[in-house]
Amino acid sequence: MKKILKFLFKKNRIDLIRQNLIVKRPVILEIGIHKGDFSKQLIANFDPSKLVLVDPWIAYDDLIYQNSWYGNSHKSNQNIQDEYYNNLIDYFKKYISENRVEVHRKTSDEFFLKNINLYDLIYIDGNHLFEFVKRDIFNSLKFIKDDGIIVLDDYALKGWWNDGITKAVHFHEKEQNIRVIKKHNIFEYHHQCIIKKI
Ligand SMILES: C[S@@+](CC[C@H](N)C(=O)[O-])C[C@H]1O[C@@H](n2cnc3c(N)ncnc32)[C@H](O)[C@@H]1O
Repeated sequence: MKKILKFLFKKNRIDLIRQNLIVKRPVILEIGIHKGDFSKQLIANFDPSKLVLVDPWIAYDDLIYQNSWYGNSHKSNQNIQDEYYNNLIDYFKKYISENRVEVHRKTSDEFFLKNINLYDLIYIDGNHLFEFVKRDIFNSLKFIKDDGIIVLDDYALKGWWNDGITKAVHFHEKEQNIRVIKKHNIFEYHHQCIIKKI
């Protein structure tokens, strides 16, 4: 049943964002970059006037991150994280020299402390634990333009990071500082959640 619904209603992240982002040449912030696969899609599809990329590229030792893409394990270590970062810088070097791409090797919390830009799109895909996502939404609300959109990855993915993303969205809905304008459900198969500030 799940497979059939997925087959019928699957939508990719870029198409979903395109349908909900009206601005041309948007200013975009992506939190959580990994190898930069999605960053490359963002620049190719939206021709942003500015693309800001934030990730600490740290291999964390804490047990909770052991099976994640950024834990210290057989899958990842600090050398691998350094390689991801160096490859990304190499890929975007032309855009960086033109000041169209900025790469911040730091956590989103550290980034927001010094940020002064306003964004048309903020894509949240960093640390997926509830407290982190809750803070990423809270900080994003300060820097999203009035008609901008905030998109969260891995929404409604049952059991994923103890449902941190879904719980953080529900937390802010209860606080009444966000409005959900689109979310994953059986007829919208993409595990994204798009919110706007109220
Ligand atoms: C799921 S991956 C990102 C995938 C990427 N957005 C994509 O779609 O290709 C999560 C990333 O979040 C990063 N991360 C972990 N903690 C973070 C934090 N506090 N702030 C920003 N990024 C963080 C990790 O280093 C990892 O690269």
